[in-house]
Amino acid sequence: MTMATLKTDPARLERFLTEIAAFGATKRGGVTRLALSDEDRDARNQLREWFEAAGCETKIDRMGNMFFVRPGRNRGLPPVLTGSHCDSQPQGGRFDGILGIIGGLEAVCALNDAGVTLERDLIVVNWTNEEGSRFTPGTTGSGVFAGKLDREAMYALTDREGLTFGGELERIGYKGETDFDPRPLHANFEYHIEQGPVLERREKTIGVPKGIVCLRWYDVEITGVPNHAGPTPMNERKDAVYAFARMASEIFEIGLASDNVVATVGEVHPSPNSRNVIAGNLHFTIDVRGWDETETDRVCADIEKAVRTHAEVSGTDVDIKRTWEVERAPFNAGLVSMIRETALELGLPALDMVSGASHDTVYINQFAPSAMIFVPSIGGRSHAEVEETSWADCAAGADVLLNCIVKTCNDPEGVEYA
Ligand code: GLV
Ligand code: MN
Ligand code: MN
Repeated sequence: MTMATLKTDPARLERFLTEIAAFGATKRGGVTRLALSDEDRDARNQLREWFEAAGCETKIDRMGNMFFVRPGRNRGLPPVLTGSHCDSQPQGGRFDGILGIIGGLEAVCALNDAGVTLERDLIVVNWTNEEGSRFTPGTTGSGVFAGKLDREAMYALTDREGLTFGGELERIGYKGETDFDPRPLHANFEYHIEQGPVLERREKTIGVPKGIVCLRWYDVEITGVPNHAGPTPMNERKDAVYAFARMASEIFEIGLASDNVVATVGEVHPSPNSRNVIAGNLHFTIDVRGWDETETDRVCADIEKAVRTHAEVSGTDVDIKRTWEVERAPFNAGLVSMIRETALELGLPALDMVSGASHDTVYINQFAPSAMIFVPSIGGRSHAEVEETSWADCAAGADVLLNCIVKTCNDPEGVEYA
């Protein structure tokens, strides 16, 4: 077995992470860097500058996915891919996604410092619109790349202001003219923060997920009757907020009663959203996830039923639509073992787990051997401005990534992971 010997530079990694966090920085230490916003564009420009200074060539495809290529000795061999996303949630954290790109950048810089030329090309990717918060669904860049989402349909997506994905992509100057297709890929690693409390509670530095949970998204539209908050008798109301409150409460209870499926009402838009008007309309979203597909579908069926029942009881109409679904993603066992062994070689305590968050690797995993590397989230907090990971843990995960890159990029022709 090769001993892991290469190390990343923790100070440089911290500097990259700190500098990129300025793009979309919020007052409370987080970032709002929504997909295809000015902040996203500025962060992209910065990434490009750093990768090119580190000797990489940049390719941008028609979805705005950015690929930074570090040439290997044998350019005919299938390359190794790593990376994540640089878009964020509104008032999100400064590690979600970007850590995986900066981890890849730091790996490139560490390889340059050590004067190492790898056999295979190494490609660090920035996938467009992972979060799906401005344009739904998420993981659109990787989904189109994988052939699972339709590019034209994604261009036509609109945000709440009515701006289109395609128009915004063009506006920020990241609509590439051709596609870049480095397939087949030899291996794909995504380095990411855990976004949950498990690693911290178990006092482990490296999380080794065996896969990613399945996911279902819904958009729900309740229609009641708008009316005056004063004169309208209580028993004559068709109140969209009341209907919603009943639905949201039962959705929580259904999730709570399930062993391993979680259910979240995240977005709520009552209309007209005025204190002295009974809301005539309300739009909300539901996010359901679990490792067990059958149990997840059972929970979804219960939720759909509850939504219809509460609409009826409250005298409102409801339209519930499933807007996205992704199957669970079991990773490549050989690469999962490699991550676990590499952590061990580096003296880092590791833990087998499942990813409760979704990632671009869901789609890449469908056609290329893939696995992920996790580091702890302080307090288990993510998708929030307080999201935090210690610099030491950021560097530890980057070391695991770097050494997994070296191993896979130096595999001779014919090696396959199973
Ligand atoms: C992506 O951030 C997700 O929703 O898991
Ligand atoms: Mn992410
Ligand atoms: Mn996220």
